[in-house]
Amino acid sequence: MTILLLGSGGREHAFAWKMIQSPLCEKLFVAPGNAGTASIAENVAIAPTDFEAVKALVLKENISLVVVGPEDPLVKGIYDYFKNDESLKHIPVIGPSKLGAQLEGSKEFAKEFLIKHNIPTAAYDSFTAATVEQGCEFLETLQPPYVLKADGLAAGKGVLIIHDLEEAKTELRNMLVHEKFGAASSKVVIEEFLDGIELSCFVLTDGKSYKILPTAKDYKRIGEGDTGLNTGGMGAVSPVPYVDAVLMEKIETRIVKPTIEGFQKDGIEYKGFVFIGLINVKNEPIVIEYNVRMGDPETEVVIPRLKSDLVELFLSVADQKLDSFELEVDPRSATTIMVVSGGYPEEFEKGKVITGLENITNSIVFHAGTKLDNENVVSNGGRVLTITSYGDDFQQAIKKSYQNIDKLNFDKMYFRKDIGFDLI
Ligand code: AMP
Ligand code: GLY
Repeated sequence: MTILLLGSGGREHAFAWKMIQSPLCEKLFVAPGNAGTASIAENVAIAPTDFEAVKALVLKENISLVVVGPEDPLVKGIYDYFKNDESLKHIPVIGPSKLGAQLEGSKEFAKEFLIKHNIPTAAYDSFTAATVEQGCEFLETLQPPYVLKADGLAAGKGVLIIHDLEEAKTELRNMLVHEKFGAASSKVVIEEFLDGIELSCFVLTDGKSYKILPTAKDYKRIGEGDTGLNTGGMGAVSPVPYVDAVLMEKIETRIVKPTIEGFQKDGIEYKGFVFIGLINVKNEPIVIEYNVRMGDPETEVVIPRLKSDLVELFLSVADQKLDSFELEVDPRSATTIMVVSGGYPEEFEKGKVITGLENITNSIVFHAGTKLDNENVVSNGGRVLTITSYGDDFQQAIKKSYQNIDKLNFDKMYFRKDIGFDLI
């Protein structure tokens, strides 16, 4: 069959790498892709949110499965676009409906869903410009630090954690009245701060049943020791050593099951990934967010640990036969280290020639922000490449990634040297 994958990051390179290993995948298109996906599939210069262009490609190339990597096209309703189009409605899209994607597209929608279905989450209230003074009064009732969340998509930047009450009030006004995050902060969720260890749970659902995928932890801050600005993620480890069977059981019964049942009760069509962000407070897992896609770079450690055929897995989601699918997982650890452009997540330069890729052994290179410039692979984003390795434990795997990163070079290249530091 011919498959189309939407997106251009390391997550999509990892999906592509796994899908082309399937005997079911005769041809893979990636839109728009990167230099990594270009080496194993055919890139097409189409934006994932340009549904008309996606439709034209799907019809022209006789594509019979569409896999959506990032959240934007999902929140804009690509699932419904296919479902409501006579010529496309028989083609499965892996990803939730527009309504389901609101779990990531609106923090308030997610909070209402969590409360309605009795899923543990931090106490909260939400405010608009008209109720900004009530918001300030609500802040006075809370203990610091204060958690302010822009309701809409803000490219991962919309959450502020502030220790000082007056500063929190100022930022609340900036968000609501001065549009700090544009329309995304026209509504703000103020949430109780949860003190504990963060972890993520990845679930794939066909809307009726589900499979829990291997656990993974990412490292969001730019600096070593988890300091400095937030990024998309600087590295990841799977499995997470401290997630034991007891904790996993709690996550499944209190969070995953009620989430999938909630989709059914609320009539939310959902055939795709659910990425549940949790904080483990004294061994009680509490939800802080839903994402409606896989994490990046978590995908680059979760997908390499799947032994099952990914295309078969996606087809069982499309056909709602996931309950009879046997998910096979590699018992080894996988780790990935992200190599970024100097300056990221603030200003950085692109177009730097990357050398040494041909010398990598015993690791998998997933391209994140790269493109081909004549014969050269050049940087084309903040996060450039991620180096994934396997090991009997995560320390062994990480060592391999670092040994291989030493063979790579580009101007102002940067990476964190302490991924996994908190797991030892
Ligand atoms: P989110 O986009 O909701 O994942 O928030 C971004 C980051 O803010 C998370 O990865 C957490 O580190 C932190 N965070 C979000 N909500 C809370 C909360 N209620 N308590 C403590 N930290 C939080
Ligand atoms: N690595 C976190 C995310 O993909 O949102």
